[in-house]
Amino acid sequence: MTTAKPITLAIDIGGTGIKLMLLDDVGKPISERHRVPTPHPPTPDNVIETLDDLKKTIGKFDRVSIGFPGVIKDGVVFTAANLNPAWIGFPFASTIRKRWKKPVRMANDAAVQGFAAIRGKGVELVLTLGTGLGSALYTDGRLCPGLELGHHPWRKDLTYEDYLGKAGYEKHGKKKWNKYLARAIEQTTRTFNWDHLYIGGGNAKHITLDPDPKITLVSNEDGLLGGAALWNNGEK
Ligand code: BGC
Repeated sequence: MTTAKPITLAIDIGGTGIKLMLLDDVGKPISERHRVPTPHPPTPDNVIETLDDLKKTIGKFDRVSIGFPGVIKDGVVFTAANLNPAWIGFPFASTIRKRWKKPVRMANDAAVQGFAAIRGKGVELVLTLGTGLGSALYTDGRLCPGLELGHHPWRKDLTYEDYLGKAGYEKHGKKKWNKYLARAIEQTTRTFNWDHLYIGGGNAKHITLDPDPKITLVSNEDGLLGGAALWNNGEK
């Protein structure tokens, strides 16, 4: 039996791992989640070679969604802080489209993750705690693209990402990192007055903050599940 509705190949490119999964038209997984380490150096050529290999291990698909750890404008990479400078200006979406002969949509990784998590009501902020610090802001479910809280200077000439990213976690340890996280969240409430905050990413498992009904911890899988939303104008 074949699925009539379009199948999305969702790809999540991270600083340490590249993940991939097939989704149905509403974002439900229809394959296993595949993960391989991000190649080194993580240049466009090396990442594309890894994607070509991964693609061979997965079934048929009709379209592609890519979550990328940087700012994306019209399918072109604008920033790539935790990958490689060779990405800047790289037309990633059109390169994959020509190579795989499938339509491709791309967005920032935290934005894609957010689409799977948000409820689509009010002001919602998403933070992802992984190699870098991802951030995405939505009003009534519409993304305000380009928010890069991670690279905003915070304390002592260091950025939020310096404190809360992977390097910050390793430098400060779990207890201090959680203290910084609580203070950073406090800053975001004053800056954005969000109605709900979602926190995801590989390091979210280290969070020890007290439960708060306005804060939801989201699964890391959401990084892929939000991929279908790129094809549905952000709707699930
Ligand atoms: C990048 C963001 C990204 C985050 C998580 C940051 O360094 O600037 O665009 O969302 O890392 O990957």
